[in-house]
Amino acid sequence: MSGDRLIATEEDVDLAYRRAWFPVTRSQDLAGGPQQVKLLGQELVAYRAEDRSVRVTRNRCAHRGAYLHTGKVVGGDIQCPYHGWRFNGLDGKCTLVPSSGPDKPVPPGAVIDAFPAIERFGLVWTCLDPGYQEFPDFDFLADWENWANGNGDPIPVGCGIRHTVENFRDVAHFAFVHVRTMGEMDPLVEPLTVSREGYTMVMERGYNVAGGFEEIWHDSMVFTYYVRPPALICLKMEGDEGIRYTVHAAQPVDDTRSIIYFATAATPSWTGVPIAEAVRHEHIIYSEDTPIISQLEPREAPLFGTAGLVHSPADKFTLGYRRAFAEWARDLAAAGKPEPSELTSATTG
Ligand code: FES
Ligand SMILES: [Fe+2]
Repeated sequence: MSGDRLIATEEDVDLAYRRAWFPVTRSQDLAGGPQQVKLLGQELVAYRAEDRSVRVTRNRCAHRGAYLHTGKVVGGDIQCPYHGWRFNGLDGKCTLVPSSGPDKPVPPGAVIDAFPAIERFGLVWTCLDPGYQEFPDFDFLADWENWANGNGDPIPVGCGIRHTVENFRDVAHFAFVHVRTMGEMDPLVEPLTVSREGYTMVMERGYNVAGGFEEIWHDSMVFTYYVRPPALICLKMEGDEGIRYTVHAAQPVDDTRSIIYFATAATPSWTGVPIAEAVRHEHIIYSEDTPIISQLEPREAPLFGTAGLVHSPADKFTLGYRRAFAEWARDLAAAGKPEPSELTSATTG
């Protein structure tokens, strides 16, 4: 099995995660003010500047370590709630110490870590050690923001991000976990057709539903899963009602906790269920998975060895993802830092 070969070390994975892009909140949640978020154990704050662009910085003030997310936004700065020091969200530099007055220089070293921030799929994404990797976008979703789209509520789970990916496209659990939402189905899984494009795993599969769920899923659709390490999935659903997509992404809060985000969008010719209904239905499906994947042991899908667990032929896609993930982590950990000009995608929002 592919998991038996050591492709990447834990250190490689840690390094790759710091160089990868992860969602930290939904765009819509910034309307409520700065958001306290945690990524890979680090406390961050995400907020929307007055020019509408987004910022992500460390959530601790450089003065006495107060939380910044309970402060307020002034222009592009975040103002600490304790003594009002302000920090520029793009470079983290302190711009004002009110007790000193605006004409006095700020103390040397009055700076907090600032991270790049972009908005995509209704989510705010950041990267702790930027410059190694472009945002891992899907070209065929370039028009997402112009399509009818919607985001579900974030879903906290008690497992690592890889488990969320494996669960999303694991087809052998549908017949057991999702009877209520997907209807009765044959538990037999046909030999899966799995391919790989770079680090992206692809699986195409026909899907037939019955039992009153045709309205949501229609009675015959082709599902194509695109899974890209570390934890981004696009599911394309195509049938005679047109094409709809769901994007799944996961935020690693720490080693054993993640937050799942999902968004769905319909292409212009889509005649199926309204987006709000699709979001509501998908949230129910996730809520069926959550209690199970939050109690898996080990809490994160192992990359090295099998952790004493056994696979079946229906796990073909999972094993392909684990291998692609390990190669991605190994390669990203070994990557030199490219010149900024070699990275084409915008890294500020
Ligand atoms: S702790 Fe933030 S201004 Fe003093
Ligand atoms: Fe599921």
